[in-house]
Amino acid sequence: MADLRQLLRDLPVFAADPLPVFDPAETPGDPVALFTDWLLGAIRAQVPEPHAMTLATAGPDGDPSARTLILKDVDAAGWRFAAHRASGKGRELAARPYAALTFYWQPLARQVRVRGPVVPESAERSAADFLARSAGARAEALLGRQSRPLASLAERDAAVAGAAERLARDPGLVPPEWTLYAVRAEEVEFWQGSRDRDHTRLRYRRDGAGWTKELLWP
Ligand SMILES: Cc1cc2nc3c(=O)[nH]c(=O)nc-3n(C[C@H](O)[C@H](O)[C@H](O)COP(=O)(O)O)c2cc1C
Repeated sequence: MADLRQLLRDLPVFAADPLPVFDPAETPGDPVALFTDWLLGAIRAQVPEPHAMTLATAGPDGDPSARTLILKDVDAAGWRFAAHRASGKGRELAARPYAALTFYWQPLARQVRVRGPVVPESAERSAADFLARSAGARAEALLGRQSRPLASLAERDAAVAGAAERLARDPGLVPPEWTLYAVRAEEVEFWQGSRDRDHTRLRYRRDGAGWTKELLWP
């Protein structure tokens, strides 16, 4: 399409009015507190799916992969997500237990970036996460075939129906490969966009038991 480049150039960005004010001088010493504040702000502002995030991992060759996932929890122990160990992300994390997360809350022109080592949580907490999933999500996860080639949609439907029957017979069934992971942040960056492009960026870096904060050029 000849005009696509122009069409893209003309699309607005950071256009909401008003955008939130972000004063780095008024921030807490701990990035989890600020992240929670921004997440609750996104929920209040009715940002669609504010708990959707991009998870980037790398394989043993160092080549990156990124995909969208749902945030399960966040506290001092880290940013949590769950996955089957045999999935693409699970295999990459086994080879290189380090990840980056990105959140983008478009109506607020806010982005948060998190980087750090990834640690599997206990079998009990992983099982609790699995059992809290919807029936359909449990059936799909029980198969443990995510991202493997699929011959036909009929094969998928038959396998998911079979897994749903197994779960109906044994509702407490939990695949041992289902894992709740925690990203133990070493860096967390808060990015507040501005229509005038004088974006405000604040990065927290782990420093011993605490955190140091620094501003970044936009
Ligand atoms: C909004 C959204 C939420 C998603 N949430 C999850 C999730 O919580 N867990 C998951 O395994 N895949 C989720 N997916 C699908 C993943 O993006 C991805 O396709 C899948 O995890 C396979 O990735 P992998 O091969 O890198 O393991 C979601 C996709 C979208 C668009």
